[in-house]
Amino acid sequence: MKFNAIYEDIAQVITNAKKTVVLTGAGMSTESGLQDFRSNNGLWAGKDPMEIASTHTIRPQSFNESDTQYQQRIHAFVDFYVTRIKEVNTHEPNAGHRILADWGRKGYISSIVTQNVDGYHEACGDPEVFPLHGTLLRLRCQQCDTAYGIERYMLTSDERTYFCDQCVTGLIRPNIVLFGEGLDENYVKAEQAAKQADVMLVLGTSLQVMPASYLPMEVVDRGGKLIMINFDDTPLDRYADHIIHGEKIGEVLHKIDSLLS
Ligand code: OAD
Repeated sequence: MKFNAIYEDIAQVITNAKKTVVLTGAGMSTESGLQDFRSNNGLWAGKDPMEIASTHTIRPQSFNESDTQYQQRIHAFVDFYVTRIKEVNTHEPNAGHRILADWGRKGYISSIVTQNVDGYHEACGDPEVFPLHGTLLRLRCQQCDTAYGIERYMLTSDERTYFCDQCVTGLIRPNIVLFGEGLDENYVKAEQAAKQADVMLVLGTSLQVMPASYLPMEVVDRGGKLIMINFDDTPLDRYADHIIHGEKIGEVLHKIDSLLS
């Protein structure tokens, strides 16, 4: 196979597909300047996500926990997400996001299922996006669901109150999915889309987190084609028809795009 043949093959698969669904992960947004999670310098490097981003993190004060310990736990949670929200707001969608939106408008892809909470696909317009893990761009009360804008988190840590104006005791939290929580109707729609797809293009995800990591197999099990673009290996590489490792998503999409246009 010639060096460039793989891009031509992928362009051909996408052109011939009846329905291509894209699944993206944090690697999609590293070229915007955001960190992913599981790379060497990722957000989880040296950290335990169950301590930082799980239902355990925001649990109400336990009987053997002092007020100070509880306040510190909640502060650490909010600080982590304040930093991430600021990062998302200071960066923007990259060329890869824009190419996918263009492919949506041209009918090459029908939907994007994303594990990302940055809203960058949605900001580019087309196609339909299913954000499995929610959004960092809205907040809500953990207890009574009252909605808040992110301005609420943008005060200095002295001015900030983390608790709901309505129910008083509920924690104001980002509208994302934490470890230990179920997914909403976006997962049902994503699963439906995957079941109808004959091609899935998987971009920038380590496929370590369920249930998103099941979706490529919905396509493979029905005889569809799997295309993977990721720096590192993933557990589903063995099922892929085409794999590109070690190259930036934006550069690969650009090459494929030049063969589609
Ligand atoms: P990961 O950090 O686990 O995986 C990102 C993958 O993208 C890694 O395998 C990188 O090698 C690859 N990558 C990074 N930049 C790239 C680039 N420019 N080009 C190609 N590949 C690149 O992120 P996710 O799989 O998205 O969940 O993580 C899944 C979920 O785990 C997240 O949604 C988050 C996290 O905990 C929740 O917060 C619920």
